[in-house]
Amino acid sequence: MKGARIFLGVTGGIASYKAAALTSTLVQRGAIVDVVLTPEAERFVGALTFSSLTARPAYVSLWDMPERIPHIRLVREADVAVVAPATANVIAKLAHGIADDLLTTALLAARIPVVLAPAMNDAMYAHPATRENLATLRARGYEFVDPERGYLAEGETGVGRLASEDRILEAIARVLARRRSLAGKRVAITAGPTREAFDPVRFVSNASTGAMGIALAREAALRGASVTLLLGPTLLEPPAGVEVVRVTTACDLYDAALAQAAGTDLIIASAAVADWRPESSSESKVKKTDADLVVRMVRNPDVLAALGERKGTSFLVGFAAETDDHERNAREKLARKRLDAIAVNDVRDGRGFGTGENALALLWGTADRRDLGAGDKSALAARLLDAVEELMGCS
Ligand code: CTP
Repeated sequence: MKGARIFLGVTGGIASYKAAALTSTLVQRGAIVDVVLTPEAERFVGALTFSSLTARPAYVSLWDMPERIPHIRLVREADVAVVAPATANVIAKLAHGIADDLLTTALLAARIPVVLAPAMNDAMYAHPATRENLATLRARGYEFVDPERGYLAEGETGVGRLASEDRILEAIARVLARRRSLAGKRVAITAGPTREAFDPVRFVSNASTGAMGIALAREAALRGASVTLLLGPTLLEPPAGVEVVRVTTACDLYDAALAQAAGTDLIIASAAVADWRPESSSESKVKKTDADLVVRMVRNPDVLAALGERKGTSFLVGFAAETDDHERNAREKLARKRLDAIAVNDVRDGRGFGTGENALALLWGTADRRDLGAGDKSALAARLLDAVEELMGCS
């Protein structure tokens, strides 16, 4: 923690008194802490408490500071933003991009990892609106220190109590350890499906949404890498701070990936590339007749195998989506495509594709493996990059 710059947001729940103890511990461990309170938090604990603990100003309002854009400076200078406690209200605002006070305005401008420690009444925590907002933020890469079951200020027992200080500190330390670990590295990631058109309105594709690749791109950017995301058609938003190259077909992806490859330190191929495309695509919509239709499919180039042939010094990681004989099939791909490592996932029964969750293992060498466990795709992206960085010798 020594020398780490921490942006601490405090929102208006009864647990906000615990943020004062957290601030004191962070300062004692050598962190430089900038505290921003919401006006509601200030009703529970005064800004003076925090400015006394940090020996720095504690802010409440956008209009406190004489400078022009204080919210940008505060988050730009920090290594990590933490909101403890995070109320249902601030979680809802963050999920919807509402910026109506200094804290939410600063967090909307944040390009740094954000750790949220929710605390609220158990019924509010369980409400479908809160669950949806939490899922939205998780999918965008926010980290959570989940609340605990215990005594709530209403005199009831339930899940909603702010996580212990130790758990919050642990999460902050974990995020700080990852920060800058890929600084100066160039990373290219292929993600999403490809679409192989048969006519202007019909195509062959698959159920990939690109969520895993998007999570990897976001995580690599948070670690300081300069990231290019080669992204197939998807409704998901690519992360901020990443260069995005949109592709449609496997052939587009092939051209874009080969153009990127030189000088790239790490290439991760998470795209679900269509292996075949219709031999020809009609310029105008094919009108239906009573007859059956036969479409001849021809092979698409294997983007990853082509990268393997030309990879030079870049570290190449593939994905294997398997339904049977997972590790044997994945190891065969590892060797055949000349990869440095391959992440294998089980896609039986619709798992992996189009869901927020996944389960992965990373394989390399002839028999090495690391189980990355199951979890949401942002957590898995972080674990995958931890393992890859070790293999690349960055950390
Ligand atoms: N891949 C690729 N280009 C292709 C096909 C696959 O770049 N035309 C990449 C994927 O991005 C993934 C890896 O190769 O990283 C494995 O993809 P997968 O479809 O599981 O393997 P295939 O080699 O196509 O083998 P099979 O379909 O027989 O399982």
